[in-house]
Amino acid sequence: MKNKILVTGGTGYIGSHTTVELIGEGFEVAIIDNLYNSEAGVVDRIELITGVRPSLAVFDLTDHEKLYDYFADHNDISGIIHFAAYKAVGESVHKPLEYYRNNLVSLMNLLDAMRTREIPNFVFSSSCTVYGQPEKLPVAEDAAVKPATSPYGNTKQIGEEIIRDTIGASENLNAISLRYFNPIGAHPSALIGELPRGVPENLVPFITQTAYGLRKELKVFGNDYDTPDGSCVRDYLHVVDLAKAHVTAVRRLLEKKNKAAYEVFNLGTGKGVTVLEAIESFERVSGISLNYKIAGRREGDIEKIWADPSLANRELGWKTESSLDEAMRTAWEWEKAIRKSQ
Ligand code: UD1
Repeated sequence: MKNKILVTGGTGYIGSHTTVELIGEGFEVAIIDNLYNSEAGVVDRIELITGVRPSLAVFDLTDHEKLYDYFADHNDISGIIHFAAYKAVGESVHKPLEYYRNNLVSLMNLLDAMRTREIPNFVFSSSCTVYGQPEKLPVAEDAAVKPATSPYGNTKQIGEEIIRDTIGASENLNAISLRYFNPIGAHPSALIGELPRGVPENLVPFITQTAYGLRKELKVFGNDYDTPDGSCVRDYLHVVDLAKAHVTAVRRLLEKKNKAAYEVFNLGTGKGVTVLEAIESFERVSGISLNYKIAGRREGDIEKIWADPSLANRELGWKTESSLDEAMRTAWEWEKAIRKSQ
């Protein structure tokens, strides 16, 4: 029998790419998504890529009763990958209660249902934001977790704690938290990718929208940081590489190869890239000269962070395969594809 994996937020950016990789590896996928930040049509696109249509249930995970009914109807789920969450850092500062309620109540409802339904395997979508500005770079999993600078970041920190405590109090629950660095790019088919609502907050959608003419110019937030060219440094990884790590993580749990009931892994390339280098990469692969200017620093930005991914390399047997240029190329192909289809 096929292993059936529940992917919450499976029509979203990382969730849809992970669904494609899961199906490619022979898993059956069931999606729950409230379509708050995505579209049901993503399922058609997943089917176009894979030839297999995952099931989609549209409801909100904060709805405890609906979730219980769902599990009563789907009693063959062997693992859960939990992406569904609000994720805009800036918005979270203005809507803290919405963020805490949505991100934490969903998580608690899922863990609760797993306990009663005896579903033992859980993979959580966490973030490098838990490290704040690390003292030592590259940053490894044992670095101190710093006070969060936004309610969004805090939901990831508290989320990790809720999982750790729940696992600690349970006989047979196992979980892996994956701390992502900066996911970018899109599926090589250009059928799925990131679909930001309104003005993008993140760098790469802002770059591609500016290149397409939807935004006048890109503002580079600061060139006076203590970095090689003064702009901030991040670790940008291709979303398909990131998606594959989820397949590896859930398989590790299903095959009981995990070394502790609760494990945490960084997912990044291990290489720091400045904002200006990211722009150069985009210009190189697109042949477009990007309209950008240096602006003031963005409040709350971390100066520099990149991953020490050696634990994931060693334990999950996972490492990034795509280059920055390849990720930028697919981001650009995706931007052009969605604009043409509108
Ligand atoms: C932030 C969060 C991260 C979260 C992610 C998802 C922090 C520290 N990090 O990542 O936890 O998962 O958002 O939304 O809160 N930049 C520009 N101009 C722009 C946009 C961005 O110069 O118009 C620069 C930023 O200053 C930054 C880099 O590009 O140096 C990446 O920014 P962004 O894509 O927003 O991601 P993070 O801030 O790293």
